[in-house]
Amino acid sequence: MSRLSQLLKRRSVGGHEPIRTTRLVLRQLTTDDLPDVATLAGDWGIASMTARIPYPYTLADARQWLDGLEEGEVVRAIATPVDGRLLGLTGYLPSRDGRRAEIGYWIGRPYWGNGYATEAASALIAFGFTSAGFEALTCCHFSDNPASRRVIEKLGFKATGNCSCWSEARRIQSPAEQYELTRRDWRQLTRRRR
Ligand SMILES: CC(C)(COP(=O)(O)OP(=O)(O)OC[C@H]1O[C@@H](n2cnc3c(N)ncnc32)[C@H](O)[C@@H]1OP(=O)(O)O)[C@@H](O)C(=O)NCCC(=O)NCCS
Repeated sequence: MSRLSQLLKRRSVGGHEPIRTTRLVLRQLTTDDLPDVATLAGDWGIASMTARIPYPYTLADARQWLDGLEEGEVVRAIATPVDGRLLGLTGYLPSRDGRRAEIGYWIGRPYWGNGYATEAASALIAFGFTSAGFEALTCCHFSDNPASRRVIEKLGFKATGNCSCWSEARRIQSPAEQYELTRRDWRQLTRRRR
């Protein structure tokens, strides 16, 4: 069994059931999704706004990325519930002590502006604070990414500072903004929104 299949197998056990939202399903990513991942994330508007996606982005790059996921890192396909079509990806990387995790997401350009990133990330956050038991979630966007800033704002994150982050597509360090959402704040927010 290849390392890629082993990783996918390991990620499919232990609480990695699909997460359903009103319009989406966050399901396990399979190797069959990788051509769509490469095509959608190979768009400059996506690659340049993420830290790890190179540009251009090939199927081989997507395979290498999946193969290189860190221990404990979770990646979910954001998909349509009817036919399972891949719209984007979301996931998180836990800190070493397992108390916090950094979340990330992207949505393919044809699907922008439908509220999908917010809906998918909200479900991942709920999963992170309940099933996964994190005390806080963090996220980060490049300073020239107002769409992601708005998503993070809608999700209830609070700004914690500025930093500089490497962009594989841009091949430079770029200014970025960091955020945090504690479980306590998330609970309060959830109660208020009910
Ligand atoms: C950022 C991204 C995930 C948003 O996906 P999406 O599904 O379109 O997001 P949503 O529809 O849930 O919300 C987008 C919000 O940003 C707003 N927005 C979009 N473009 C904007 C811009 N140029 N300036 C300000 N706000 C903008 C939208 O109006 C919407 O806010 P609203 O609901 O108040 O109207 C998507 O554009 C993407 O994948 N970009 C590239 C990768 C990326 O940035 N990933 C995140 C890395 S931190």
